[in-house]
Amino acid sequence: MKTLSDFNFKGKTVLLRSDLNSNVVNGKVLLGGRIKESAKTIKELKKKKAKIVVIAHQGQKGKATFASLRQHAKYLNKLTKIKFIDDLIGKKAINEIKNLKPGQAILLENLRFEEDEFHPQKGKKNKLIKILTPLFNVYVNDAFSVCHRKHASIIGFPKYLKGFGGRLLEKEVIALKKINLKNCLYVLGGSKPGDYLPLLKGNRVLACGLFGQSCLIAKGIDLGAQNKYLSKEVSLNQALKDKLKKRLKNVITPLDFGIKVNNKRKDLDLSEFPSKYKIFDIGPKTRKEFIKKIKKTKAVYMKGPVGDFSSKGFEKGTFEILRAISKSKGFSLIGGGHLNDAIAMSKIPRKKFDYISLSGGALLKMIAGEKLPGLEALKK
Ligand code: 3PG
Repeated sequence: MKTLSDFNFKGKTVLLRSDLNSNVVNGKVLLGGRIKESAKTIKELKKKKAKIVVIAHQGQKGKATFASLRQHAKYLNKLTKIKFIDDLIGKKAINEIKNLKPGQAILLENLRFEEDEFHPQKGKKNKLIKILTPLFNVYVNDAFSVCHRKHASIIGFPKYLKGFGGRLLEKEVIALKKINLKNCLYVLGGSKPGDYLPLLKGNRVLACGLFGQSCLIAKGIDLGAQNKYLSKEVSLNQALKDKLKKRLKNVITPLDFGIKVNNKRKDLDLSEFPSKYKIFDIGPKTRKEFIKKIKKTKAVYMKGPVGDFSSKGFEKGTFEILRAISKSKGFSLIGGGHLNDAIAMSKIPRKKFDYISLSGGALLKMIAGEKLPGLEALKK
């Protein structure tokens, strides 16, 4: 893979795929590690006098985190000057790209607002590829954390443009190649149960977050209000439930949960469900049980939050589990944007973990031994 050191970017128009995907609370995007680290690559390309056009995504269609990149641009702008263009492949975007001067950067609108982002197989008929490719000299992928997605911005552009790995992508690839996860305990939370399927067979797993709840529903447990929420928020349909159910042999699921009643936390045992209230965290029994297992393990990998740590009173699950991992003697690997934010909020020193990756799903696939389409595309 070629990197930013292998080319003279001076005066070249660069299509830079970054991962700015961040935590969103009540419509407000939170400034996290992905935005901060992406800014460094933009800065380096500016120094090299490239004309930089950043493309990125936020959230998934139909979910609460699906949003414009306007707020991301505001954060980025504090770190390095960048102009937000509320357009992706229309006249406005095209004019701005054509008028860029060396050392300038713009950020286009959320890639996922354009359906063709999901159809790279259309090749030159794909709108993103057809309209954007002729405007650029080179493509840089700095979004290691999206390299598991076969999207146009990941595998489409490098078919038609000379491709390079950005600094953040390079840093993650080098670090992750050195990691040894023999006899690892997997603490899997967050909201993307489908992504975990390749890891469930044969591995010891502590299931939490929306993933833990999905496992319980797959086992046939009725959680009440949370069932409906999960079917929408994590697309928990019958097919996914069936797949999960077949892989739950080594998966330990929560014993209790923290629910929100009149804006206050109440802990309920699993036997007290279904409940009309939504779940925001694991309960004290689960915490204790999980921490016991974490203490004994030789290596631990955690991905995704345990609960909604941005809601007051529901931080405990995520923070306590992270704290236990930070104290464990075994090798610790943390993955994903949310946990990066949680570590910052919990004030646990980052150096207490062996490696913290900004990547969630992509890292997971790499650990499961799968090739990442985004990295393969850069090699070709
Ligand atoms: C992530 O958050 O893991 C990356 O930004 C990829 O996002 P996605 O899971 O919505 O494709």
